[in-house]
Amino acid sequence: MMRVPLCQVQLSDKEISYAEDALNTGWISGTGAYVEKFERAVAAKVECERVVAVSSGTTALHLALLALDIGPGDEVIVPALTFVSPAAVVKHVGGRPVFADIAPDSWTLDTDHVRQLINDRTKAIIAVDLLGHSCDYEKLSRLGVTLIEDAAQAHGARYRNKPVGSFGRMSTFSFHANKAVCSGEGGCVATNDHELADHMRLITNHGMSPQRPYWHDVVGHNFRMTNVTAAIGLGQVERWEQLVAARNQVAEAYRQGLADQPCNRVPWPSGLTRRAGCTP
Ligand SMILES: Cc1ncc(COP(=O)(O)O)c(C=O)c1O
Repeated sequence: MMRVPLCQVQLSDKEISYAEDALNTGWISGTGAYVEKFERAVAAKVECERVVAVSSGTTALHLALLALDIGPGDEVIVPALTFVSPAAVVKHVGGRPVFADIAPDSWTLDTDHVRQLINDRTKAIIAVDLLGHSCDYEKLSRLGVTLIEDAAQAHGARYRNKPVGSFGRMSTFSFHANKAVCSGEGGCVATNDHELADHMRLITNHGMSPQRPYWHDVVGHNFRMTNVTAAIGLGQVERWEQLVAARNQVAEAYRQGLADQPCNRVPWPSGLTRRAGCTP
């Protein structure tokens, strides 16, 4: 039997030289020039004004919920088909994950089912762009509930000619090694809301006031991405289009290989089109 790996990490000389440079500077923890460069580079790719780099895609989701002050008694709608993180972070903040069905044509949230689940306790929807397929943001945004877009698996995907990650009040990405663009471990939250971005940075760095070191404005966490991780991530983000194209080639190989299988219910055409940058 042939083993087909989930992914094969492609690190170029760029990532290696940036990582070496970060190591040589001695700035190997969560502060350093590469963290800022990485945040700016991701912000440009996902067309958002602010990006806060963190230690993983799960941390990014956790941070988003903390920033929105979601806690005990609150409900957050999550898709029934996804990785465990969206539901797990809702439990971590003491909330209740409520599972919504997915639409068969995209494997992302079924807006009609989401609508039925909304009540007074609903504080947010985590909309996952599963396997590079974007959610239907036009319909979801009409529901009037705060949207957190989980684009962990969807670097390079587009909806209505805009990159995924630019639709929710905030969006999250993972840069785990199995993602199209990676940094080893790593994640980020992107938003156009500057107040929210400042608050997330505060939480990420122990709640420590940027103006007054060791003065803690809120009870925070250490969610920081390291400078070495950001250096690898920057090299990858600078090769974003190339890496996304390589992932699309793999998808195309699967599409061709599975085309004749009667049990094949994968929504290939829309998925590939969306990842490739066309409107649905
Ligand atoms: C949809 C989704 N959200 C969140 C995550 C969590 O990302 P990380 O593994 O970086 O914590 C993943 C990871 O695969 C994911 O697929």
